Parts: sequence; structure tokens; C-alpha cells
Amino acid sequence: MALELVATCALGLEPLLEKELTSLEMADVRPVRGAVRFVGNWRAVWRANLHLRSANRVLVRLATWPAPNGDALAAGAGDLVRERGLHWAGVPVNDLFDPRNTLAIRASSSRSQITDVRWAGLRTKDGLVDAQRERFGQRSSIDRERPDLPLRLHLDRDLATLLLDTSGQPLDRRGYRVTTSQAPLREQLAAACVLAADWDGRGPVVDPMCGSGTLLIEAAWFALGRPPGCLRRHWAFERFAGFDAAAFERIKKVELPVLDPDVRLYGIDNDPTAIRAAHSNLARADLDDRAKVMRSDAFAWTPPSTPGLLITNPAYGHRLEAAVDDMRRLGDLMKQRYKGWRAVVIAGDPGRGKHIGLRPRRKVSVKNGPIDVRILVFDLH
Ligand SMILES: C[S@@+](CC[C@H](N)C(=O)[O-])C[C@H]1O[C@@H](n2cnc3c(N)ncnc32)[C@H](O)[C@@H]1O
Repeated sequence: MALELVATCALGLEPLLEKELTSLEMADVRPVRGAVRFVGNWRAVWRANLHLRSANRVLVRLATWPAPNGDALAAGAGDLVRERGLHWAGVPVNDLFDPRNTLAIRASSSRSQITDVRWAGLRTKDGLVDAQRERFGQRSSIDRERPDLPLRLHLDRDLATLLLDTSGQPLDRRGYRVTTSQAPLREQLAAACVLAADWDGRGPVVDPMCGSGTLLIEAAWFALGRPPGCLRRHWAFERFAGFDAAAFERIKKVELPVLDPDVRLYGIDNDPTAIRAAHSNLARADLDDRAKVMRSDAFAWTPPSTPGLLITNPAYGHRLEAAVDDMRRLGDLMKQRYKGWRAVVIAGDPGRGKHIGLRPRRKVSVKNGPIDVRILVFDLH
């Protein structure tokens, strides 16, 4: 049964996520704003959750219907339970909307007459549970923390789309973050830096301002062909009717290509708290035997002579002059000590990257929460 699937991502990461889905040989891959659509069966859902590095969540589209007002919204949701000719996900409605399943709905709205998203969520829930009472004589209870059915409602131009969240906890909860330092980078953004680099996985990886080590871990897992979900214990899809635990175990055993089995990692930071965080996280990510983490000044440390990947995220929240000065110094460092390396720098404010003084081979603009950041990729000759 072909399901209509949506992998969501930060705005700007769509092309990288599209490439990931294509590499996973998913069908009908189509980027849209903040997400990439594709088509597949439940195995595709499990694979996508396990393997996608730059996505936030994987959703299944259950139904879309016109909802210019609350009554239409509730009626359409009810029709889904009553199975009245709407598109739905190929799971028997009796199983999916079994009233013993708890549910929760998170709503969002754009360009629609309904703007109050809390109210939209409530009306949708009312439509679902009223129809459950009619059909089953009972209704689901609501569990906001760990629902069996995490549902998402999206209103756009008065069209309601109800989606089933198959991930549960977002995919950035990789399970290796034991400790954080100040301003840790979100895992998907770190992975996006690695993907944007078009790196062949060869040579050492250096982060001269490594903080809690996120970039080093994402780069190493990529080079070693380790799925980003390899440490995760829970997925929402495990609680859905029809989940086949043995089949998912077999998917987990499929090995990804290893680009460099001997990848070495070097993390530098001048803050001892960051060094401690990086040590713990690298150990949890099972990379401590190949990582050296040192307290030092980024600008004083000499990298290994074999070129590899320089990947870093200098602090970008602070004063403009200091940030500009950091970018200039980083540019000089790259020119002087990292000849022959590929480099990826996250420049906070889009204007700041130009102070590096090198022409990037690629720029990716990303919304990191409310902040606009640029991923800049350089070839250092
Ligand atoms: C934005 S944080 C990096 C966060 C990191 N990517 C993570 O995921 O945790 C920037 C880091 O640069 C470090 N730093 C700033 N100036 C430095 C310097 N001159 N030498 C080494 N580390 C420096 C800070 O201590 C901080 O941990």
C-alpha cells in the first residue's frame, strides 16, 4: 500500500533532504516549503526514520478536506473515522482509530480563515472522538506526553490536512547528547553541514571550536555509515497497528556504505566545560577510540598534515565587531593551516561570512529556529 509521506525539515534544508531521500531510493520525491514529500509503504517509513540525517520528522498524510470554518473542520475529521470516501493511510480505520489508542493533535495554520490553532486542534479532536463514539461506542482519551496517535493538523488556504507523526520525539534526539555546552548545534543542522560539504568521507575531521562535539559526531557517523537513529530506543510507529518488530530489526541490520572505516576526529575548544561535554557525547556515540579532544586555542593549534574536513560553528550570538573579527581570524587560519582541506563554516548572520575572505563553493541559507544562518562550504587551495 503506497502511503503519502512527508519528511519535515528546517527551511532551507529541502535540497539536502531531497538528496537523502533519493539516495534511499524513495519514490516520487518532491521538495516543498520546509518538507519533502515522497511515497512509500510502512517499511519506507521505518527506513526514513532510521536513516534521515537532515529531517525533523516523518509524517503520513491521512486526509485533506476543505475547512473554512470549525464545523467543516470537525465534520471532515469525523468522516475519516467513518471512512466516508476520504483518502487515508491504508491502515484499517478500526485499528488506527481504535478508541483504546490515546491521541493528541498539534495544529498549525497559514493563509486560512481559522487562525486559532488551539481551537483548530480542539475542533478536529471533537470531530474524531464524536465519530468514534458513533462507530465504537467509546472514544480515545487524550495524552499529550506520549500519545499512541500523535496527529498533526495543518491548515493552508482553508484546506485541512491531517497527518500521523511516525517519529514521536523529533529525529534530532539521536541519543548521544549526554551533556551540552553553551549553544549546542541541533543535530540535523550539523548533519546538514556534512551533507552540504559533498565530502567523500576521507581524511581527518577537525572542529577547532567543537563545543559539545555535535559536528564531529555527525561527520563520523556519516563516514562510518552509521544510521543517525542507531541509538534511538523509541519511535511512534512502534505503537501503530501492524508494526512488524522483526522486519524493523532486519532493516536495522542492513549496512550502509562505509566511506572511511578509520576516520579520525580532532576537537579543540578553549572552554573546559565544552571539552568535558564533547568527551561524554563522543563516548556515548561510540567514537571515543577515534577522537582526540583537546583544550586549546583554535588559532594556535596545528592540524594533522593529511588534509580532510574542517567543520566548525563559531559562536554567533555575540557582538558584531567580535563576530566579524572571529570570521577574519578563521579565514586567515583556513588559508594558512588548512591548505588542501574542504571546510564548512556556519556563519550566523548572512553578512558575516564574507569576512572570511574566501569565495565559498556552496552557500546554504537555513532558518535555525528564529535565526537565519548560512552554511558555507570552501575548497582551500
Ligand atoms: C557555538 S559553540 C560550538 C557549538 C558546537 N558546534 C556544539 O554543537 O556544541 C562555539 C564554541 O567555540 C569555542 N571557542 C570560542 N573561541 C575559541 C577559540 N579561540 N579557541 C577554541 N575554542 C573557541 C567556545 O568555547 C564554544 O564552545
